[in-house]
Amino acid sequence: MAEPSQENVGITISNHLLLNQQLSTGATGSYTRLLQALVLACKIIQRDVAKAGLVDVLGRAGTINVQGEEVQKLDELANTTVKRRLSASGEVCGLISEEEADIIEIPRQYPRGNYLVHFDPLDGSSNIDANVSIGTIFSIYRRITESTNDMDLQDALQPGVQQIGAGYVIYGSSCILVFSTGQGVNGFTLDPSIGEFLLSHPNIKTPAKGKIYSINEGNYGYWDEPTKKYIDWLKHGYSEHKTHYTARYVGSLVADFHRNLLYGGIFLYPADLKDPKKPQGKLRLMCEANPLAYIIEQAGGLATSGRERIMDIEPRYIHQRTPLIIGSPDDVKIYQDFVEGRRP
Ligand code: AHG
Ligand code: MN
Ligand code: MN
Repeated sequence: MAEPSQENVGITISNHLLLNQQLSTGATGSYTRLLQALVLACKIIQRDVAKAGLVDVLGRAGTINVQGEEVQKLDELANTTVKRRLSASGEVCGLISEEEADIIEIPRQYPRGNYLVHFDPLDGSSNIDANVSIGTIFSIYRRITESTNDMDLQDALQPGVQQIGAGYVIYGSSCILVFSTGQGVNGFTLDPSIGEFLLSHPNIKTPAKGKIYSINEGNYGYWDEPTKKYIDWLKHGYSEHKTHYTARYVGSLVADFHRNLLYGGIFLYPADLKDPKKPQGKLRLMCEANPLAYIIEQAGGLATSGRERIMDIEPRYIHQRTPLIIGSPDDVKIYQDFVEGRRP
């Protein structure tokens, strides 16, 4: 499909999806219905987030999730919303949530479709009570096993290169949905007065190089040497690279990623050795790193674990973690120079 251009700004996301569908030969509407169910789920979560301070959805739910993290009430609410809306679409054969240990089966009353979705229902949970931007992240695959059965691990453990779509929503100063189905990246802003996402950021491309770096400096003591050298170079190498880098770190991956996507820059969550249970760092491959890697590559950027391209990683289990270095291509390449010893 021809990329939306400036004159398309303001069309609804439904129009955009239907235009996409009309221009995709043989499209049946299944993919469009799946995306529309995702859009509805995000509108519902936005409504719950917007009034979180007024109803009893702030704070902890009192449970620990499969990640070993304290579950926030909004985590649970967002998780239930995405499951319910995607299951009812009749377009998925199974779901994998950051919040649940195993593959989520689709209730028997719904037909099974040919897609599966990995999702982080609420990203940045530690920021909920402080009213800092949070988000939802999703990653879409086609099933590869026989369609008459429930999906199985073979469907769930596909490398990121097999994604057919991915995106995120930020519940922030405005509610923005950014996603790609493989023909570039588009951003839609929710107009709450009409309840519609309208095209606001057509054909997003990330700058080749930025001036922002995002990393939790509190973990400095636990980083590998190349990461320490890279960050030191960013901060003290001005005489060499003549760029004054600015540190920006919100602590919500979607917020840090979105800012760097638009402005340029690099986000790093390297392996931090402080937690022997998480030698590969904190971020999840399937519901955080892969979908954002899909987006950044569609926008002209790069995403690596330091050892390999994120989307080439062969997943071994559904909650696998990975170091994530993602953003402007020139910045990620310089990081790679430090990892591979091309810079001292
Ligand atoms: P989630 O809330 O889905 O568990 O994700 C939180 C992640 C991510 O949003 C963010 O980049 C990272 O945690 C921040 O971790 P630190 O607080 O360790 O920096
Ligand atoms: Mn997350
Ligand atoms: Mn989460």
